Amino acid sequence: MTDSIAKVFNGETKLGILGGGQLGKMMALPAANWHLPYWILDKDESVPAAPYATKFVAGDFRKEEDVLRFGRQVDVLTIEIEHVHTGALHQLVKEGVIVHPAPSVLDIIKDKGAQKLFYEEHQLPSSPFMLLEDEGAIRAAVKEGKIQLPFVQKSRTGGYDGRGVTVIKTADDLANNLLPGPALIEELVDIDKELGVVVARNADGEMKSFPVVEMAFDPVANLVDYLLAPAQITQALEQKAIALAEQTAAAYGLSGLLAVELFLTKSGELLINEVAPRPHNSGHHTIESCLTSQFEQHLRGVLNLPLGDTRLLQTAVMLNILGEPGASGPVNYRGMGEVLGIPDVFVHLYGKKETRPFRKMGHVTIMAANPQEALQKAEKVKAVLRCGV
Ligand SMILES: Nc1ncnc2c1ncn2[C@@H]1O[C@H](COP(=O)(O)OP(=O)(O)O)[C@@H](O)[C@H]1O
Ligand SMILES: [Mg+2]
Repeated sequence: MTDSIAKVFNGETKLGILGGGQLGKMMALPAANWHLPYWILDKDESVPAAPYATKFVAGDFRKEEDVLRFGRQVDVLTIEIEHVHTGALHQLVKEGVIVHPAPSVLDIIKDKGAQKLFYEEHQLPSSPFMLLEDEGAIRAAVKEGKIQLPFVQKSRTGGYDGRGVTVIKTADDLANNLLPGPALIEELVDIDKELGVVVARNADGEMKSFPVVEMAFDPVANLVDYLLAPAQITQALEQKAIALAEQTAAAYGLSGLLAVELFLTKSGELLINEVAPRPHNSGHHTIESCLTSQFEQHLRGVLNLPLGDTRLLQTAVMLNILGEPGASGPVNYRGMGEVLGIPDVFVHLYGKKETRPFRKMGHVTIMAANPQEALQKAEKVKAVLRCGV
């Protein structure tokens, strides 16, 4: 291990990232602290991470030949988005490239149906489900009494930020609102809180979790409205959530981060909703609020370095900066002066030139002595910050 660590810090290990979105950008910043060669593959140089990459390569991470071409030029390859060509990653592993998360893990996680089968097989708690081919099969299953309304329908692949998830409540929904294609059907969970645990693992099997967070969702945008760290739950529940996340990361055997989305049900049960094998929106606050950020921790995990201390320094609230409804075009931020005038508030922008309704344009982390104070400051931020045209 020592030799490979020396190589990393001597700048001899080229790190490649598939995807150059905001996650790739935020990971470039700690990579720069260690002066790592940081290569990005994405469509063109307008993507958020491009200005911070030591080498930007134009190409499509969904295309086999582009991923192969890129991967053959780096030593360690990771992702900031799951929807990449995993066939190419399997080939690169055969050729000796270190790929984390492992392509076999990505194959499971990319497919929400395969994820559910994995949890079932590993006896990890998750809501009851069924996999069906298409809308016709779903309607037939309802008719035969195999599934009951209401239920949640999810596209097996390609969904994100609530796109690809729909709640089917009524006969009218069943007739008109089903998503096309292979689907995962889940029981509609009676959710008390949505919790998140970001856990890191390295190839030596070391694991460390960040404190549990709770997420409040915006029902219209289907995105995180705000996130609170630490989650306001009992210590026993906190320990249970972390143990479950670590059990899940160990079952996958992955290196790097695993962001585990959990439901706390009204009856006090913890269920795994889904996971992402990379930095996650629910860990953005760690840049300021924890000793090690999730982005540095992902680097440590994929490079097989000792993992960093995940201690939370203060209560934090994270708000996504979303494009205003009804506004599309070149972005114009308003209220930034007022926002920065509030103590212990930190703004992150992703450099997206165009705003669209509910597009994730950046985020704000708000630190305070306690949740009440943090949420009060968050309300002030929301009242003045505008992301329109
Ligand atoms: N089985 C379920 N029961 C109730 N609500 C759910 C269920 N599955 C998902 N949701 C809600 O939909 C949101 C998005 O679903 P998720 O599977 O996490 O998709 P995405 O990939 O868009 O994050 C969840 O955060 C939760 O609020
Ligand atoms: Mg989700």
